Amino acid sequence: LSVISARQLLPQLRALQQNTIGFLLETTRQHGDLVLFDLGTQRAVLVNDANLVKQILQDRHPHYDKNTIQYNMLATVTGRGLLTADGEDWFKHRRMQQPAFVRPRLETSLVPHIVPAAQRMLDRWQTAAQRGELLDVDREMMDVALEVVGQALFSLDLSRDARRLTSAVLVCLDHIIHLARNPHLSLLPDWLPQPGGQKFKRALKELNLSVEEIIHQRRAAGGPPPDDLVTMLLNARDPESGEGLSDAQIRDELITILIAGHETVASALTWTWLLLAQNPDAFQRLRAEVQSVLPDRDPTAEDLQRLPYTAAIFDEALRLYPPAWLITRRVVEADSYYDVRVDPGTLVILSPYALQRHPRYWPDPHAFRPERFLPDATKTYPRYAYIPFGGGPRLCIGNHFAKMEAAIIIAMVARRFRLERADSTEVFPESLVTLRPRGGLPMRPIPLSEE
Ligand code: HEM
Repeated sequence: LSVISARQLLPQLRALQQNTIGFLLETTRQHGDLVLFDLGTQRAVLVNDANLVKQILQDRHPHYDKNTIQYNMLATVTGRGLLTADGEDWFKHRRMQQPAFVRPRLETSLVPHIVPAAQRMLDRWQTAAQRGELLDVDREMMDVALEVVGQALFSLDLSRDARRLTSAVLVCLDHIIHLARNPHLSLLPDWLPQPGGQKFKRALKELNLSVEEIIHQRRAAGGPPPDDLVTMLLNARDPESGEGLSDAQIRDELITILIAGHETVASALTWTWLLLAQNPDAFQRLRAEVQSVLPDRDPTAEDLQRLPYTAAIFDEALRLYPPAWLITRRVVEADSYYDVRVDPGTLVILSPYALQRHPRYWPDPHAFRPERFLPDATKTYPRYAYIPFGGGPRLCIGNHFAKMEAAIIIAMVARRFRLERADSTEVFPESLVTLRPRGGLPMRPIPLSEE
């Protein structure tokens, strides 16, 4: 165990703020797998050891909750939806929503929505290519991922033409980041004017109104409701009390899914395109696989089994650039990490970014090598050294959703285009709610028929 005091941390505050993931990586490199920040009234422990990660997320998860700055800030937008709730409430809501996310159901409810959404995006790219225009790939991935979540889970059109709700979501996400950068702001009383505060309040109101409208329209609608997550939440009953969810609870769950389910997937896909542009051999191998499985048609759910390299590319992108780069917990019941006692109230910090680049678990940790994740590869790493979706009972409910969506989008893009960097500047990963390339990612779409 290494201990870092407030005085030692002070000179590094700028580095911490400006390059948080770089700071986490460097701290674990210099100080080892267990680092205690002793900040007087607050103690935080950074854990970068797969056995301990398993202990925290899986074996002793009841010792921990999500009452941390990270999740409390998210909750200002999502309320106590699945991502931020704890205890009995979390358990009941997870049980209600789980059936919407199991693989066989996703094969019929998700795949048919992804293909046309990706198709529309590629048609736009074709026009951009003809005009010699650049794409902001980060923005393109955000749009397509939001459209997929809207269609597949809410039966709603959230494409570019339906911007009201989406721009409200984006303003709210910006505000969460603003709070994260200036944590003292969340301590100020509500009535005190804050920079950006009015814009955020208006956006949150807009978001709430839009989601309430969805709920009311559904309640009022005649005829058979669409078979989606909204209907599932409206009809859900507690098995013991028989009670349903209130509109406010449904609102929290829907906003949670909207936020947890789109920026994460988009971020991972954006990094995938950067990595493929930097690794032309991997792109060629991807293209060979896609062409042999899908010579002249779009992918179906059954094809997903036949695209192992495509899936491995996404797994490896999630390793190098995990969208959820930070996972936090608060200790509620004392625990011990090897021989170190960890007291209640301690903030526990897990960094998928640092863990997934740990040289003990990953040979050549910073290199892009999708082969690591092929089904017949020799596994070098323990399960809990790879946690892009977390682990244990609070494992991401959308992990199959995300992987299916990504594999189909990657395969569909690779059938038609190669994406080339627009310039050769270094791309800096900014740790916002997810990891995003600073300033976006401009790329040039090259139609493959022309190569
Ligand atoms: C939870 C990552 C996609 C919905 C989580 C957690 C991680 C994560 C790390 C656990 C957080 C913790 O333990 O503190 C990701 C990544 C994604 C992704 C990297 C894409 C590549 C999705 C999608 C959805 C979704 C597509 C929904 C459509 C959720 C929800 C939770 C969650 C509701 C909370 C689950 C619970 O606590 O029971 N996600 N996620 N995520 N994710 Fe995802």
